[in-house]
Amino acid sequence: MKIVVTGGLGYIGSHTVVALQHEGHEVFVIDDLSNTTIDVKDKIESISGKAIHFTALDLKEKEAVFNYFDSHKNIDGVIHFAASKAVNESLEDPLKYYENNLNTLVYLLQACKKYEVRNFIFSSSCTVYGEPDALPITESSHVKQATSPYGNTKQIGEEILVDCSNAFDLNVISLRYFNPIGAHASAEIGELPVGVPQNLVPFITQTAAGIREQLLVFGDDYPTTDGSCIRDYIHVVDLAEAHVKALDRLLNKDSKESLEVFNVGTGKGTSVLEIIKAFEKVTRQKLNYKIVDRRPGDVMQIYADTTKANQVLGWKARFSLEDCLASAWKWEQNIRKQ
Ligand code: WQD
Repeated sequence: MKIVVTGGLGYIGSHTVVALQHEGHEVFVIDDLSNTTIDVKDKIESISGKAIHFTALDLKEKEAVFNYFDSHKNIDGVIHFAASKAVNESLEDPLKYYENNLNTLVYLLQACKKYEVRNFIFSSSCTVYGEPDALPITESSHVKQATSPYGNTKQIGEEILVDCSNAFDLNVISLRYFNPIGAHASAEIGELPVGVPQNLVPFITQTAAGIREQLLVFGDDYPTTDGSCIRDYIHVVDLAEAHVKALDRLLNKDSKESLEVFNVGTGKGTSVLEIIKAFEKVTRQKLNYKIVDRRPGDVMQIYADTTKANQVLGWKARFSLEDCLASAWKWEQNIRKQ
């Protein structure tokens, strides 16, 4: 089938494009290259052995979005990754996030309506839940007041999609990601943070590679098992597979509602200090870190109840934490060679 992937040269997008091509889909990638590089296209094609149709396009340009769909007819589905996603940046520059994450979604949906694209997968986030009242967290758990403009754009994005799926013929699946980490086994694609990494695992691998002096652990005084924050870390390849399963569900018209939501995680919580220990075990090297104050906006602990994705999508995370960290380290070493 013909599938448009926005943000398809990004971290999760590129892994999903590889998985879609493996399934035999014809993939049309849109990316504005604001947070990636064009050589990711070549890497994807070298992994899959198949060409992708690529268009550099800024989804904030409404006319360009409509022109794109006018010249790409009979699109069977859209997987929408393109968005800004740094929590703390969104606190400093909220309007960048509301423009880049919401205006673009509206233009994309207007084009889907006009050109009768019927299937839409939205990249959402566990951030929509805020600090959970109970764990593991299910899709019916209360969505609280967002703790950042980034998280708010994901909440508003889901609300826009509810209204659209009720107003016109659009079938939507919203995937709420937990914490994606790791890289494709080939080490040809992976997470490439621009500048100083905000996320834990790329900061760990860059510290181990000697690019960063020391990892700062943001707090060990939380009421958790070892005092550090707990997250649900999922291999990016597992996450990519979840998109293929969600797309199958839409294309096979198996959805029970016009908008369905799924948690995409492993169902297991891991603390920051446990991640560090696991990384040291996998790489057999000591990591230079120190405990500092908590980071504002961090939730203490969150991990997924994945029953719905397991039973309804027929999807389950396969990779272990060690697999994730080993692949992240192999990727870090490979990019340093280039
Ligand atoms: C994980 C844990 C930090 C860096 C965010 C977004 C989420 C998703 C993933 C897009 C926390 C600790 C981190 C460091 C540390 N993004 N940490 N030192 O904040 O859970 O989730 O990124 O979809 O939507 O909210 O991920 O990797 O930043 O932090 O101690 O240098 O690691 O305090 O406890 P987070 P993270």
